[in-house]
Amino acid sequence: MILVTGGAGFIGSNFILDWLAQCDEPVINLDKLTYAGNKSNFAALAEDSRHIFVHGDICDLALVNQLLATYKPRAIVHFAAESHVDRSIHSPGEFITTNINGTFTLLDAARTYWSALSDESKAAFRFLHVSTDEVYGSLSPDDAPFTETTPYSPNSPYSASKAAADHLVRAYYHTYGLPTLTTNCSNNYGPYHFPEKLIPLAIANARAGKTIPVYGDGQQVRDWLYVGDHCAAIRCVLQGGRLGETYNIGGWNEKANLEVVHTLCDILDQLAPKESGSYRDQITFVADRPGHDRRYAIDARKLAHELGWKPAETFETGIRKTVEWYMTHQDWVRNVQSGDYFKWLDKNYVQRADQQEVA
Ligand code: NAD
Ligand code: DAU
Repeated sequence: MILVTGGAGFIGSNFILDWLAQCDEPVINLDKLTYAGNKSNFAALAEDSRHIFVHGDICDLALVNQLLATYKPRAIVHFAAESHVDRSIHSPGEFITTNINGTFTLLDAARTYWSALSDESKAAFRFLHVSTDEVYGSLSPDDAPFTETTPYSPNSPYSASKAAADHLVRAYYHTYGLPTLTTNCSNNYGPYHFPEKLIPLAIANARAGKTIPVYGDGQQVRDWLYVGDHCAAIRCVLQGGRLGETYNIGGWNEKANLEVVHTLCDILDQLAPKESGSYRDQITFVADRPGHDRRYAIDARKLAHELGWKPAETFETGIRKTVEWYMTHQDWVRNVQSGDYFKWLDKNYVQRADQQEVA
């Protein structure tokens, strides 16, 4: 079996659902259920004995040791993290605790466990660390996309904490020989994406008749990847990745934020037209994110050449599927919009002075 951390979050839950749809290997899912973790994401697995959910913290060494000793996983796939850049600006401490100390705790527990395995099990064991393209910093318009050798240059508390975790993973491979793999992926979108991130927030606000907040001039560029393609890439790396290596994962889909929001509004105009006007009328430019990275772009050729992975979805197919999913899962959206969620919206948006209205 495998141990997945953070499997109640956006990407982790998609990964577990896809994994169990494709093979019978059981999954232990260790998740703290922060505001971003939702058990309803894997409601479909309620009766499935291949999925073992453990409510707990990756910083809890005794618990991690106990899970490793009890279940003897052949791999750890580590998603658990604080993942929202804006929250890292308001409250960086939680990012240091989970993303750095939590990754250290897992690595050290994994090292102890792995050291005691038989030679055969030792050789088969993998620690796959799921990271982000944000560790590479920000690109200018004419810069080549990030490769695996681009120097690290993180700019937010979130990306700095992920960079620190990546370095620890590297150190555990080089120092102790722990069989690690690291993936650095671009922006994901798709089902179960928590509606604090741009795409699900824009869909939720559009449908609720609220303003759709665009930071700064909306010309920041992200490289969007459908979450199912990210999960497929992780399975590829877990199966065939070279030990100690890092693999960039991206969708070759660079889009400015305003273009993304326009696309969402246009799809909603087709699928759920308003009585008058367009959803674009709800777009509002608000104060920019401090230290906002201007552009991310991933060169995913290493993964394509070594392991044959390429994304199955284009942005056009993936984004339409995503809007349709949100329209048919409004109960899920309502369920995750707890009191804490509305407090977060107040904290992040009320103080952002509106800069201009766009028709
Ligand atoms: P998410 O915020 O949706 O989910 C994170 C999950 O981790 C939640 O279920 C949460 O409860 C859990 N968690 C948080 N702290 C924990 C702790 N201390 N112990 C156990 N569980 C804990 O995040 P996501 O968007 O699914 O991202 C998953 C991983 O992928 C992260 O490591 C993130 O850095 C990375 N990543 C995300 C993206 C993206 O676009 N979302 C892109 C590249 C990489
Ligand atoms: O690049 C990978 C990263 O992508 C992951 O490591 C992070 O975990 C994930 O959250 C995501 O980070 P971003 O900051 O790029 O995602 P977010 O959806 O928060 O923002 C996308 C872009 O949209 C970014 O340029 C900021 C902008 N934005 C965001 C919000 C929430 C807005 O313009 N308005 C908003 O309200």
